[in-house]
Amino acid sequence: MARRSLVVVANRLPVDEVVQSDGSIGWARSPGGLVSALHPVLRDRRSTWIGWAGGLDSTPYVPDSDGIRMRAVPLSEADYENYYEGYANSTLWPLYHDAVQTPAFHRRWWEAYVRVNRRFAQVTADYAEPDAMVWVQDYHLQLVPAMLRELRPDLRIGFFMHIPFPPTELFMQLPRRAELLRGILGADLVGFQTAAGADNFVRLVARLLGAQVDGRTVEIDGRTVRTDAFPISIDVGEMEDLGRNPDVIMRAKRLRADLGDPERVILGVDRLDYTKGIAHRLKAFRELLVDGYIKVQDTVMVQVAVPSRERVEQYKVLRDKVEREVGRINGEFSRVGVPAVHYLNQSFDRFELTALYLTADVMAVTPLRDGMNLVAKEYIAARVDNGGALMLSEFTGAAAELPESYLVNPHDLDGLKGTLMRALEAAPAENRARMRAMRKHVRSHDVRSWARSYLKALGQPPR
Ligand code: G6P
Repeated sequence: MARRSLVVVANRLPVDEVVQSDGSIGWARSPGGLVSALHPVLRDRRSTWIGWAGGLDSTPYVPDSDGIRMRAVPLSEADYENYYEGYANSTLWPLYHDAVQTPAFHRRWWEAYVRVNRRFAQVTADYAEPDAMVWVQDYHLQLVPAMLRELRPDLRIGFFMHIPFPPTELFMQLPRRAELLRGILGADLVGFQTAAGADNFVRLVARLLGAQVDGRTVEIDGRTVRTDAFPISIDVGEMEDLGRNPDVIMRAKRLRADLGDPERVILGVDRLDYTKGIAHRLKAFRELLVDGYIKVQDTVMVQVAVPSRERVEQYKVLRDKVEREVGRINGEFSRVGVPAVHYLNQSFDRFELTALYLTADVMAVTPLRDGMNLVAKEYIAARVDNGGALMLSEFTGAAAELPESYLVNPHDLDGLKGTLMRALEAAPAENRARMRAMRKHVRSHDVRSWARSYLKALGQPPR
């Protein structure tokens, strides 16, 4: 039988509009997690990606990219405010991340979420070939599976949640909680990053909807919905190639020289998001300077904070907080020509990021909650030299797979300081052994095996 065609439905299309050298508009593959993750799987089969192209009030024609058909779903200014900034990123995002910021609930946001989810479902129903597999991505589109099943019962529908799925106590706060669960349950297979997420979901559908549950399988309305953990990964080969690339290695040496040739470099690379624990990390670094455990002459910190969701109030507040803290540390501890913290509120391409990874003696990944954290996996894959050390928050999905990292509770400031010092001062042989073990894991669990195992499970006939 011919392989079914595949349709990926995600909030964003995996391409960005770019102005080309002759002034015309073109499209280039976007950097970033989800896109890099799915790209290799789609390239090799008949596939379509449905998502928002980035502009407002327009439906641009987006050309095929690497043989993947692109179909844009339009968003208006009101959709952007109420669906994307509102319900997705001010209700669901904080709530699903342990409510580390207070989620806001507004009925007009919910209405926009329903409206936009219906639009995504309709575009998908219009474009999907008969019997196609449709893979719906992430928290923006939780109602799409059920809406799509109504429109196109012939499709095999999967859903994958990239962010954490919260415990009952938190989820119960949502005003329209049962409708959200019913939306997801339109899928044949629901994937989560961790076993804990899958267990939270199954417990909730039993409690709120009275569904029959057998292990991770749910029986509802005469249908079977399977759920499981599928921890996402990265294109390991691509990162390894970059890590070996002589130009990247040269660039890393240059970066180190530009940083003043310190003995030790601590690196953070995050979207500027309140879930990432950036302020906690900076505070730990400052206290270590105050206590005299580290000196700027020999230890510097580089913090890349990629701009994100900049019009949302909580993100503006976070930016002010982080920048105040960086200013305070640099004011107290920098020397002329040698800042203590190099703060970069910019995005970087993969070449430059990998050079930074190669420069980092300790990579500090300390989110308060994170579905997976692909930066941690990229760092490991790039370190083909087995150098460096990873400090990793227990509250990331990645922590479940990487017990050889320096695991830390980012809320425990003394723990954070102690763990950072241990990573900085460990014998090189210990850090190499840890890195080797983590590299082995990541190499055998790359994004292709993630996507293949998910799609294989989705392709299996329902029980
Ligand atoms: C997280 C989400 C993705 C999202 C990304 C960037 O990783 O799981 O779905 O695309 O953040 O956020 P943005 O709001 O810019 O799409």
